[in-house]
Amino acid sequence: MCGIVGAVAQRDVAPILLEGLKRLEYRGYDSAGMLVVTPEHKFSRKRAMGKVAVLGDALSSDPLPGHTGIAHTRWATHGRPSEGNAHPHVCNETIAVVHNGIIENHDALRAQQKELGYRFTSETDTEVIAHQLHHHYSQSHDLLAAVQAAVGDLDGAYALGVVTNSDPERIIVARRGSPLVIGLGVGENFIASDVAALVPVTQQFIFLEDGDIAEIKRDAITIYDHEGHEVTRPVRQSELTADAVERGQYRHYMLKEIFEQPRAVADCLEGRISGDKLLEAAFGHEASEIFDQVQGVHIIACGTSYHAGMVGRYWLESIAGIPCSVEVASEFRYRKPVVRNNSLIVTLSQSGETADTLAGLQEAKRLGFGHSLAICNVPESSLVRESDLTLMTRAGPEIGVASTKAFTTQLVSLLMLVIALGRRNGLDPFVEAKMIQQLEHLPGKIDHVLQLDDRIREIAEGFADKHHTLFLGRGAQYPVAMEGALKLKEISYIHAEAYPAGELKHGPLALVDAEMPVIAVAPNNELLEKLKSNLQEVSARGGELIVFADEHAGVVESENMTVLPVAPTDDCIAPIIFTIPLQLLSYHVAVLKGTDVDQPRNLAKSVTVE
Ligand code: G6P
Repeated sequence: MCGIVGAVAQRDVAPILLEGLKRLEYRGYDSAGMLVVTPEHKFSRKRAMGKVAVLGDALSSDPLPGHTGIAHTRWATHGRPSEGNAHPHVCNETIAVVHNGIIENHDALRAQQKELGYRFTSETDTEVIAHQLHHHYSQSHDLLAAVQAAVGDLDGAYALGVVTNSDPERIIVARRGSPLVIGLGVGENFIASDVAALVPVTQQFIFLEDGDIAEIKRDAITIYDHEGHEVTRPVRQSELTADAVERGQYRHYMLKEIFEQPRAVADCLEGRISGDKLLEAAFGHEASEIFDQVQGVHIIACGTSYHAGMVGRYWLESIAGIPCSVEVASEFRYRKPVVRNNSLIVTLSQSGETADTLAGLQEAKRLGFGHSLAICNVPESSLVRESDLTLMTRAGPEIGVASTKAFTTQLVSLLMLVIALGRRNGLDPFVEAKMIQQLEHLPGKIDHVLQLDDRIREIAEGFADKHHTLFLGRGAQYPVAMEGALKLKEISYIHAEAYPAGELKHGPLALVDAEMPVIAVAPNNELLEKLKSNLQEVSARGGELIVFADEHAGVVESENMTVLPVAPTDDCIAPIIFTIPLQLLSYHVAVLKGTDVDQPRNLAKSVTVE
């Protein structure tokens, strides 16, 4: 993953770069570094192990003056987190580079470079880029030509920011498979992995396309496509504001984002419903024509987004009557699937930059999927740009690594897709109207379930010393249980597994004892009695149960079963409602355990490597 930021200005750029790194920290946070070209045309570099704040401390006691610079926050792929492996990487005090991505032929390049006499000071794949750039630069003495030549030698994915001290007012950038934006200032220009890094300094952005290389100067930007032809790319205005990514009164971003869900859901619905009807133009002006042709849906996604896709499958088949399969993108992209006629490929992604999902979309196009739809939270993302239809989830920036409001707004978006496709498959207008009413009531219902917060905090106390937990659900609540288990392991590091409750007796029941809490979600639906029997199986074996149950479900508290009542809810929105208490539970357990809630160990928010 990693985040990169750079600036060419008439002022010292270190404060701009540091602020940019802080805003990119969600992409990786095991080490950070910055390099500026000094007024004397020398490189001045500072790198630090750990979070960006550590680099910030080092800079406050020893600032880096200079008007051109590049900086990086790292999520280790090749080489452990260390100061020596932190970017920028420098070759012969002449070329410096920051990189996001993975160079797959780094071993072969390293061997060639060693033959040429290059010495290595890190274990990273990035250092071979620095040497390769230097190799070409020493022949052409032109940084742009050196980057154009060097990228031809690289296999893999990259977003690069490159500077040389002999031509200090210039940054060359290149991207293939990893995101990169150019921010336009007045008499100064910037680069970054995403818009959020630069909103304090500009609102105007150019999004580079795959294969682009660009020259960034203070007063000029020149872009070349993958064939070296000069091209223009549109300038877009970002609507993101600098304070949209502030934490406000909340102790953690994750808690803020959990409590933002009523508003996020309302924003997701706004302008997309008229009376009791869905406006399917929300998916794009070609939506109606494309939806008319769809005979099946294949959803691909990763992580939390994959769980949303799993809920989507239950809905699409049971409500819209349309065949649907769902798959993690990293499997789909290499599996050689059989494509059914007129299948719609649906990608779900908060960031729109997840490498496996993007590659899955490309593979789907190659395989002959009729059309593509991206359900995404970032309008400027690669996934959105590469899809025929798009539906923005409008959750607002999500900073906590553990996804919350992005998930619930994905579910709302999927329900809109269910209605749009269901209409073509005999969905009763009365059912559509009822679903729309449920969606309109959803923000209020989420507000209501958020009031369980204090109770959930008390219950969390029983978890802090546990090492394993089991999450149970049935039907569309099974993926909700999976999402609950994922949240708990991501931020509290407690081992958690989810099972469809009916599968309990086929193995996991053997694990149940008083030391392993079992959490279940129990909406009042046609599977309720089955679920109650499954809960009895746990109870009879001395298991400790915590059940989030619909008030009308008749799930009764007993000695080893705690029941938290959830207001009665229609089944179509129940997966959204029952997700909320599970988010709160994992949050409070993590706080009690004292983990880094927003930036849990070993993870990153945006996974732009495969
Ligand atoms: C990472 C994040 C998860 C996220 C997953 C997919 O693993 O930590 O929270 O669900 O990527 O990301 P996407 O942006 O594609 O939804």
